[in-house]
Amino acid sequence: MNFDLKTLPLSTAAAEKCDLLVVLVPEGFKPASDALSTLVAHALKQADLETKPGKHLSLYQAPAVAARRLVLAGAGNGSPRHVRQALQGCAAALKTPQVKRAAIVFAGAAQPDAVGAAVMALADASYAYTATKSKAEPRMLGRVTVGVPDAAAVREAFVRGTGVAAGVEFAREWANRPANHATPTLLADAAKALAKASNMQCKVHGPAEVARLGMGSFMAVARGSEEPLRFIELHYSGAGKGVAPVVLVGKGITFDTGGISIKPAAEMDEMKFDMGGAASVLGVFKALAELKPAINVVGLIPACENMPDGRAVKPGDVVTTMNGLTVEVLNTDAEGRLVLCDALTYAARFKPAALVDIATLTGACVVALGGLRSGLFATDEALARQLEQAGDAALDPCWRMPLDDEYADSLKSNFADLGNVGGRAGGAITAAKFLQRFVGDTPWAHLDIAGTAWKGGAAKGGTGRPVGLLVHYLLDVARTPAVAPKAAGRRTATAGSKPVRAAAR
Ligand code: BES
Ligand code: MN
Ligand code: ZN
Repeated sequence: MNFDLKTLPLSTAAAEKCDLLVVLVPEGFKPASDALSTLVAHALKQADLETKPGKHLSLYQAPAVAARRLVLAGAGNGSPRHVRQALQGCAAALKTPQVKRAAIVFAGAAQPDAVGAAVMALADASYAYTATKSKAEPRMLGRVTVGVPDAAAVREAFVRGTGVAAGVEFAREWANRPANHATPTLLADAAKALAKASNMQCKVHGPAEVARLGMGSFMAVARGSEEPLRFIELHYSGAGKGVAPVVLVGKGITFDTGGISIKPAAEMDEMKFDMGGAASVLGVFKALAELKPAINVVGLIPACENMPDGRAVKPGDVVTTMNGLTVEVLNTDAEGRLVLCDALTYAARFKPAALVDIATLTGACVVALGGLRSGLFATDEALARQLEQAGDAALDPCWRMPLDDEYADSLKSNFADLGNVGGRAGGAITAAKFLQRFVGDTPWAHLDIAGTAWKGGAAKGGTGRPVGLLVHYLLDVARTPAVAPKAAGRRTATAGSKPVRAAAR
């Protein structure tokens, strides 16, 4: 999708050559004297149009309007949330096959974040999955002009919106692809293709290297599958070599049957989305390639299938993780934490300023928070605040969950250093406590996106979350001035030379 931003008052918007013109009409709309403004004012006066977001009025060949189709859409108070709701309400008009070129114009002040939200909502509405359909309908909407009273004032937010939209779309696409079209190997190929961009590098570790690294826990999950595991390592270098990176770790279970602790058949197809964390890391790198912020980011993806098999890991098996801790696999369906723990151990070698993992980790998190907010767990207050604020700004919200040490009591095992499951109670929290054992002193956050990474039912599909949250966070970090290292060379996360840049602590 191609977006462009223009300074476009309503009078000029009327002359914009396109198939569809959408006018976002906020509360307290002040009409000028041009024909389109007058039309809007009349519609409001007659109560044929309401400014409530989601309400709209469709017109055809309106006089003095160049576009055949015209939609007047209520934009509420003009906030990002209301603008998104307004455009979601126009989704059908935006998806009409005849509409190849559209213009969206703010008929009032345009808040920068609302312009970003508009771009994301438009990209969202125009996405269509086609990868495995034999009669792929080509994407209809190809070009969108966003018209605002003052383009220069919102340019930055607009550009960010286009970057995030590209990342979200990339994440949705990979999440949506069926497990036989999104194997660990294919995910690694996608990462390699991304790394063709400047400032990017990708290393893919196969089974032999992962064995050499001692990732016994990750390997145990992959044992039951014919598909070879991949450990994907992406690097984006937008800042100096000495600047400590933010490390993102995405759960990449390309299909989760549950393993020997097998899941029931109903809705098991949705476990192709169990690589949603990995997809979001790929999506973030897609956005980084476009936006090129001054920051260093490492992306780590342990990717494999969780399958039942004669060779599969069994309940009661004890595995040795990369950091030496032993784990009793009490339930093979709690596999996410088993692949993540080794990736978190590996992450320490980059001396991260902040370490954030993203995982479709627990059904318990879906029960706790539903599909609106991702679960946020964090050992570092500043990092937690930054992620919460980024989520709010990106309309991709999360909610802080607790990490009291008592929650780890249920992870005790009679036969290993820890078990991989607690009881049913507080399942999202005990999963996070398990991960916490592997992060040491690094400022760490865990996003449980089991409820937010995809939608079930008629609208089944990946959401691209939490790419918006993560990109907003990383851009905030890039804006925070780096503190000059005391001495030349690599800064470390040890006391005395705290890498203040990324976590802004
Ligand atoms: N991938 C699932 C989590 C999940 C379940 C996400 C349902 C979305 C919807 C994860 O691997 C899993 O199976 N978790 C178990 C953990 C349990 C065995 C402790 C769960 O949540 O049931
Ligand atoms: Mn599972
Ligand atoms: Zn899983």
